[in-house]
Amino acid sequence: MPTEVSLISKYSDLEGKVALVTGGSRGIGAATCMALARNGAKVAVNGRDEAAIDAVVASIKAQGGTAFAAPADCADLAAVQAMQRKVADALGAPELLLPFAGGGSSKPMPFCDISEQDWRSSLDQNLTSTFFVLKTFLPAMLARGSGAIVTMASAGGRVAAGAPADYGAAKAGIIMLTRHLAAETGASGIRVNCISPSAIMTERTAARIPPERQQQMRAAFPLGRLGQAEDVAAAALFLLSSASAWITGATLDVAGGRVMS
Ligand SMILES: NC(=O)c1ccc[n+]([C@@H]2O[C@H](COP(=O)([O-])OP(=O)(O)OC[C@H]3O[C@@H](n4cnc5c(N)ncnc54)[C@H](OP(=O)(O)O)[C@@H]3O)[C@@H](O)[C@H]2O)c1
Repeated sequence: MPTEVSLISKYSDLEGKVALVTGGSRGIGAATCMALARNGAKVAVNGRDEAAIDAVVASIKAQGGTAFAAPADCADLAAVQAMQRKVADALGAPELLLPFAGGGSSKPMPFCDISEQDWRSSLDQNLTSTFFVLKTFLPAMLARGSGAIVTMASAGGRVAAGAPADYGAAKAGIIMLTRHLAAETGASGIRVNCISPSAIMTERTAARIPPERQQQMRAAFPLGRLGQAEDVAAAALFLLSSASAWITGATLDVAGGRVMS
């Protein structure tokens, strides 16, 4: 029987570092905030829903960690810049950057049914928001001469199936943005990698996909189960830590074997 339990390793080099997780208010981002805090990082938790952000911050503090609420719409450059100033004042400039905010429909849709609004929304919420966060937080990392960044793609950006083209194109754009940044910043001591998950059962996805459908989906994954937010958090921590010191510009498929490259 395949295990459903994932353990977050203790990466001692993350201790005391400042991390920003966009989309940290729920799902994959929230699990990653918790894992970072358990490894001793000081975590700025971003999202748009202040109550959800406060709940993550409170959970971290209840476990003895350090966290700061950093609400902002990441698709709004001025809002991201204002958040950057608040995070720097409260915790210092982040050395670990996780632009995870995003999402969209995972239901495939005929190409001609994709509206202009669908297209702009997918690009804004995923690719543009990632660009705004990188553009805003990178200068301080360059000045420091060290840092690690993990961006968030999707299996929808790796294979032309299982998601609408607008979402897939936005996520594929994040993969190439990651590679460009990795090529440019490696000599400045900054590593940039990308995670590409598939079928992670967060509160929202689990509510959207009926249990019978989840059962059918399991059969499509070589590892015989669906993913958990902690699976993605574990991969992110590896890519942030010095355990991956010789890895940059990579895309790591956290996809139960569904995507192999
Ligand atoms: N779950 C999966 O199977 C899966 C697979 C592949 C990729 N992904 C990617 O993983 C990331 C997290 O997904 P999830 O499944 O954990 O989704 P989720 O539970 O719906 O969480 C999405 C997070 O992104 C935040 N967010 C969205 N747009 C934002 C914006 N403009 N500004 C700031 N925050 C924003 C949300 O914040 P608020 O709710 O506070 O606004 C929330 O914290 C997304 O980029 C998604 O595309 C997920």
